[in-house]
Amino acid sequence: MGHVRRMEFDTVILGAGAAGLMCAAHCGGRVLLLDHAGKPGEKIRISGGGRCNFTNTGCEARHFLSANPHFAKSALARYTPWDFVSLVSDHGIAWHEKTLGQLFCDGSARQIVDMLVGLVRQAGAELWLDTSVEGLARSATGFDLRLTREGKAVAVTARRVVVATGGKSIPKMGASGFAYDIARQFGLSVTNTRPALVPFTFPEGRFAPLSGVALPVRARAAAGPAFDEALLFTHRGLSGPSVLQVSSYWREGEAVAFDLLPGQQALPMLRAARAEAGRRGLGRVLSGPLPARLAEAVAAELHLTGNLADLSDAVLGRVAERLHDWQVVPGGTEGYRTAEVTLGGISTEGLSGQTMEAKEIPGLYFIGECVDVTGWLGGYNFQWAWASAMAAARAI
Ligand code: FDA
Repeated sequence: MGHVRRMEFDTVILGAGAAGLMCAAHCGGRVLLLDHAGKPGEKIRISGGGRCNFTNTGCEARHFLSANPHFAKSALARYTPWDFVSLVSDHGIAWHEKTLGQLFCDGSARQIVDMLVGLVRQAGAELWLDTSVEGLARSATGFDLRLTREGKAVAVTARRVVVATGGKSIPKMGASGFAYDIARQFGLSVTNTRPALVPFTFPEGRFAPLSGVALPVRARAAAGPAFDEALLFTHRGLSGPSVLQVSSYWREGEAVAFDLLPGQQALPMLRAARAEAGRRGLGRVLSGPLPARLAEAVAAELHLTGNLADLSDAVLGRVAERLHDWQVVPGGTEGYRTAEVTLGGISTEGLSGQTMEAKEIPGLYFIGECVDVTGWLGGYNFQWAWASAMAAARAI
């Protein structure tokens, strides 16, 4: 047997992503932050199209899905979007609001990663990359960890362990169910998990001819709230912010409803068009308020190819209804390959909402996306990562 180095820390944080970096930057003591990847904060780097939608100024508990909708309230109230904005501004990072309270870097998401890594270093924490966890067990004083660091075995002891290894989305980037495995090992329950904030797919390339068409809609899945955001047709199916939002509420076999003319009145508009230009076809008339390719597809779907003048009020009523309540049943989703987040996770029943510590396992904490708290699209998931990390850091 070769010599195995043994090192002692107060706190070991597993996962140098959004939550792990934030926690390591603020918790104090002798801290080891480790990650199996070769770089920290990779999801931050690719987030928000490279500009990182790092928070949302309107953040409230209602923007999160969880078996316990109250769980996130305490952490979110004690670390607000404006707390993170101060941090960002103090570091000279310029930002702007894009839409709906969503704050983005003017420059690059890398600035957020660099800021957090800088804070981790300033706090005196060790950052070990290319490091994997082979084993984690309780000891008399806390926890024993067996690690492999750059191919070498290292034994580490810690009074506390913070699990911040995220969810299962984007396996290509090293995402795995690691946090859930640890939770189960220590007797915590894990809810069903599924890809969320993910595009819908349809069999037989149903929408491929419309690929590239985009428009503002109001979208709704059976169980969820309505989202007024853009819809985008792709060669695989439907995407865009409205679709990503409703995907978190959608279940297999269910229909998704789109109001293709949100805030408008289709029937009076169609009647007026019939009166003014009755010799036009429906597709041509709809290509005023709708993108032309979609307008023609809707007319074809309704088998209405003649002149508008030939359509009765009843038929126009059906057209209007279809425009305001266009229902489609997705075949599925693109899955974890492209999902922005994992819905569900470690059950909040076993965790303290004040500190994120496991109620039955003193010293073991779970923060960030691995917990059963999943935000809407729009900076909410990062705000949860920051806030849950701060809840743990303050307790540590
Ligand atoms: P995160 O995934 O950030 O970090 C987990 C870390 O643990 C990773 O560094 C990983 O390598 C490491 N790890 C995993 N398993 C391990 C193991 N077994 N051993 C050691 N280390 C391990 N949210 C938002 O609010 N605004 C946005 O703009 C976006 N944009 C966006 C784009 C894309 C493409 C994706 C995929 C996601 C987003 N998100 C987002 C979601 C956001 O990125 C996500 O919710 C947070 O990064 C979650 O933070 P965590 O720290 O919990 O996990």
